[in-house]
Amino acid sequence: MTSTDLHHFLRTRRSIRRFKTDPIPDPVIERILTTATFAPSAHNRQPWRFAVLTTAEAKSCLAESMGADFRRDLEKDKVSENEITRLVNRSRERIMDAPLIVILCADATEMDVYPDPKRQKAEYIMAVQSVANAGTQMLLAIHAEGLGAVWTCGPLFAQETVQEALNLPKTWEPQAMFFAGYSDELPKEKEMKEMQSVVKTL
Ligand SMILES: Cc1cc2nc3c(=O)[nH]c(=O)nc-3n(C[C@H](O)[C@H](O)[C@H](O)COP(=O)(O)O)c2cc1C
Repeated sequence: MTSTDLHHFLRTRRSIRRFKTDPIPDPVIERILTTATFAPSAHNRQPWRFAVLTTAEAKSCLAESMGADFRRDLEKDKVSENEITRLVNRSRERIMDAPLIVILCADATEMDVYPDPKRQKAEYIMAVQSVANAGTQMLLAIHAEGLGAVWTCGPLFAQETVQEALNLPKTWEPQAMFFAGYSDELPKEKEMKEMQSVVKTL
């Protein structure tokens, strides 16, 4: 593979939100997760943790808990009952329809400890940045397998709910939820910012 091929590979990963029902074979899941763990991390502490859901039972448990949480937030926002029902049902369907769900968590307990809040906050952010690296690497590993996936942020708004629903250790802080499977859609071309608006050469 040439560097041009590799750049093409990196640039053609897209978010996929509709999947075929075919399950992903276990060795493929294993490879994806292992490749994700090769991401760079602050002090090489590897603070990522993965909760992997493939069964209808586990997905249903997550969907029910997250749905109840989502509903409470929408009620507080005074969203209409019809709209709440539509959004909560859609959220449940997305969870149930994805052959593979990975909840990406951060465990900051092995990061450095500082006596002052400023450095402590920076250290925590480093843990979260490191976990995001594993998330991106996981999306690319999924792309490498010819599968599709999307990063979603729901668990960040319902961290304790997700921890309790999946019986995760208290130190595993849910950051994101990935849906993955064999793609059943062709994503639209995406709008890109002009390079000169995101780069400053000095
Ligand atoms: C931190 C983060 C949070 C995201 N949250 C969601 C989400 O909650 N729901 C969703 O459908 N897509 C979500 N996405 C996917 C983005 O919408 C998507 O990456 C973006 O539109 C660019 O499209 P592409 O991934 O096809 O290049 C998220 C992506 C990131 C990196």
